Amino acid sequence: MKTNIKNICCIGAGYVGGPTMSVIADKCPDISVNVVDKNSERIALWNHSNLDLLPIYEPGLDEIISRCRGKNLTFSTKIREKISSADMVFISVNTPTKTKGIGAGQASDLKWVEACARDVAKFSIGHTIVVEKSTLPVKTAEVIKKILEASQITKNFQIEKSFDVLSNPEFLAEGTAIKDLEKPDRVLIGGEKNDAILALHNIYSKWVPKEKILHTNIWSSELAKLTSNAFLAQRISSINSIGAICEATGADVREVARAIGSDSRIGSKFLDAGPGFGGSCFKKDILNLVYLSKYFGLDEVASFWEGVVKLNHWHQKRISILVVEKLFGSVSNKKIGILGFSFKANTNDTRESAAISICKDLIEEGAILYIHDPKVEENQISKDLGLNSINLNRKNKAKNKIQNSGDWFFASNIDEIFPEADAILILTEWKEYTNFDWEKISTKMRRPAWIFDARSILDPKELENTNLNLWRIGDGFNT
Ligand code: NAD
Ligand code: UGA
Repeated sequence: MKTNIKNICCIGAGYVGGPTMSVIADKCPDISVNVVDKNSERIALWNHSNLDLLPIYEPGLDEIISRCRGKNLTFSTKIREKISSADMVFISVNTPTKTKGIGAGQASDLKWVEACARDVAKFSIGHTIVVEKSTLPVKTAEVIKKILEASQITKNFQIEKSFDVLSNPEFLAEGTAIKDLEKPDRVLIGGEKNDAILALHNIYSKWVPKEKILHTNIWSSELAKLTSNAFLAQRISSINSIGAICEATGADVREVARAIGSDSRIGSKFLDAGPGFGGSCFKKDILNLVYLSKYFGLDEVASFWEGVVKLNHWHQKRISILVVEKLFGSVSNKKIGILGFSFKANTNDTRESAAISICKDLIEEGAILYIHDPKVEENQISKDLGLNSINLNRKNKAKNKIQNSGDWFFASNIDEIFPEADAILILTEWKEYTNFDWEKISTKMRRPAWIFDARSILDPKELENTNLNLWRIGDGFNT
């Protein structure tokens, strides 16, 4: 088997497939990298001449696309053609939590992965190395293998169509994807056959130091990905739980985080208290771990990890309740400015963003929200809230406004947020929200006015000469 890959196909042009393949193309000009997706609108955006319209926002991605697209990097819907010509196929499709049937609410829905395996089985020619890039439950490789092996063709005792399956989970975080891909902490390759592992190893070794490329068995690799996300999410729920104690006792979660993070055994990263973790993966991957644990009869293990998700849910609710309480127990018809809707800064992704549940709660309580985000579009917020903005309703003359319930405006201009607002709620740590003239803003808001900083981006000193009330996450001292 050849270990020198010349042609790659990646199925799935999403937040992982797009950036990952762009970096491989950039680092390996001798490999032809072809990203395919069944979503033609998404592919059209990947091919758009205006790089501001790429389907995902990721710092540094546009430069790589302009260097490689049309040379050794293509985006298309030609699934059959690109699989046929590939020596290696990455499966990088979505694996959301099942919404119905066995395991609903916890297990991963693998129908998209299975569809990919069937396409590879049908369209591949000769020997193909299939790489799981999607995050998958342990033992999924077995399912993929069975589907592929069922299509293996033998003629005159010679195998004409054959496969190897590898696990190569992705550890990039959104907003820093390019940096994470160019300088990864590690690359993990799980597999059984040395030649297949070597073929993938040779690609990464073009830019990743070899001591950072770890080889494991396939099941360890699949489990390590779920575990990695579970450990990271667990740190966030831990610090958010301590933040609540800080608020109750007069301690300050930033000081506590600094103190514990200085212990080299604990470390300082991932200790920022916030509005609760979001993103498409933490919740889904932990629930997947919970499902696996239950499946293997490990109920105590399952409830340990389930606690991380429950705490996160409780924490998001805690913030909406707190806002209502501070505004005299009612936000009905009160104007509240929401700064940030994406689940973290530097991405346009809103999946599982804490802003969704907090905004829904406040609208339910009757608030009029003015929502701003530098990268998230109005339509996306409408979809997430299940409610068109007042602007859109007026435009469409639709009347989906629920009586006695609140509403929301899309604030394309940030200055619309402040006049006559009763409160401002900072939910995403965008850099643009760190340089406001709070003295000036305080003159525009309706008094008594509140600033709720769920991301700790404000220095309380900046508000000292204003008559604004400040609540900061985990701050039992200043608020
Ligand atoms: P995504 O939803 O952004 O992209 C998935 C793409 O796959 C979609 O464009 C969809 O149209 C396409 N697709 C689905 N089935 C297809 C099929 N049969 N044929 C062709 N195209 C198909 O998802 P994502 O965020 O890129 O995540 C992909 C996987 O990577 C998930 O398993 C996720 O858990 C994992 N992951 C995500 C991140 C992240 O930061 N988003 C990081 C690490 C790992
Ligand atoms: C996370 C992991 O960090 C990646 O390694 C992994 O590949 C990815 O999930 C995945 O599998 O999808 P991502 O969700 O993009 O990446 O972003 P993170 O930086 O991990 O942030 C997740 C959430 O936690 C965000 O809502 C963020 O605001 C929150 N967070 C993060 C905190 O509240 N505090 C922190 O200290 C860090």
